[in-house]
Amino acid sequence: MTTSTARILAPQEPYERDPALLEAAALLRAGELVAFPTETVYGLGADATNPAAIERVYAVKGRPPDNPLIVHVGHNADLPTIAEVGDPRVVACFKRFWPGALTMVLPALEPYRTIIGRGLETIAVRMPGHPIALALIHAAGVPLAAPSANLSGRPSPTTAQHVAADLGERIPLILDGGPCLVGIESTVLDLTVTPARILRPGIISAAMISQVLGAPVKSPGETATGSIRSPGVRHPHYQPSVPVLLLPSSTGGAEVVRQLRLLAASGVRQAGLILRQDIPALQLDEMKIEVRIARHAEALTRGLYGWLRELEGLGAEAIVVEGVEATEPVMDRLRRAAQQKPQQ
Ligand code: TXA
Ligand code: MG
Repeated sequence: MTTSTARILAPQEPYERDPALLEAAALLRAGELVAFPTETVYGLGADATNPAAIERVYAVKGRPPDNPLIVHVGHNADLPTIAEVGDPRVVACFKRFWPGALTMVLPALEPYRTIIGRGLETIAVRMPGHPIALALIHAAGVPLAAPSANLSGRPSPTTAQHVAADLGERIPLILDGGPCLVGIESTVLDLTVTPARILRPGIISAAMISQVLGAPVKSPGETATGSIRSPGVRHPHYQPSVPVLLLPSSTGGAEVVRQLRLLAASGVRQAGLILRQDIPALQLDEMKIEVRIARHAEALTRGLYGWLRELEGLGAEAIVVEGVEATEPVMDRLRRAAQQKPQQ
């Protein structure tokens, strides 16, 4: 159990005058790291123009050095200082989806290419929709590089307490905006290629983007042969410290019980379950069971990371999750959590 020394402060409206928010902005300008809420997941913020602060992000998270960060902006007008925006698809996307859960990969400009790029010519940029995130970027007066505020490989944080559990000994301040409304990370869209290509699925879908662009958009499952272009997808992700078993959504109670008996036979005495609906009288003599219910895809998306952490914290030795096949973003995270090969 880690002992968190980070202060957790909840800014109040008007955010732009809140003392905690202004202190966070001052820390960021001084090269320190501050965690803050976004509508997707909590981010670990650093001044994107400060190379030492960026190196600190990698050290604090234990992040693989080849995995570049997303730069968060507070105004559309900041974008042309960071990336090339001559492509009309870029304007169409930010007009429709910003602020929001869409990250665009674009040709990078200096000095960001050198500071953020990890050897790439491109840069990922997003304008978050959360009012505390926007107020913080405005107050800091610089774009903020921010990966998810978890230790590398762990489920992303969707509350300030999740951040404290992973990073509370390593950063001075966490801004608390309550639970994240979306619950999984932004869609990452590569606009340096034609057709545009989704590198990481999120709640903004290929169909939604395709409608705005009036052109097809490739989703991660449709990749032809060739290299994976988003460096982060090569590394392990979203994994609690115990095994995750992913079941099809149509599994049904009898099959869940069969899987639990198999786990029990392999020595598991306590299991966590994330199910689509309650299984009446679910009880096994040989195993302690803790159940969380997600009746629809949004509930699973919003709850997944927190439940993985919670069930693990309650002592589950394995976590069984019923998937939602039709919902690619959450299935992508579940396949990775279960260490199955993602579809890309
Ligand atoms: O919702 C989100 O996107 C959250 C919040 C905090 O904004 N951030 C987030 O950051 O998820 P992170 O660092 O955990 O994930 C960024 C992803 C990684 O998969 C990384 O490889 C990819 O974006 N990425 C960053 N720059 C890229 C680039 N130039 N080309 C391709 N992929 C890139
Ligand atoms: Mg992450």
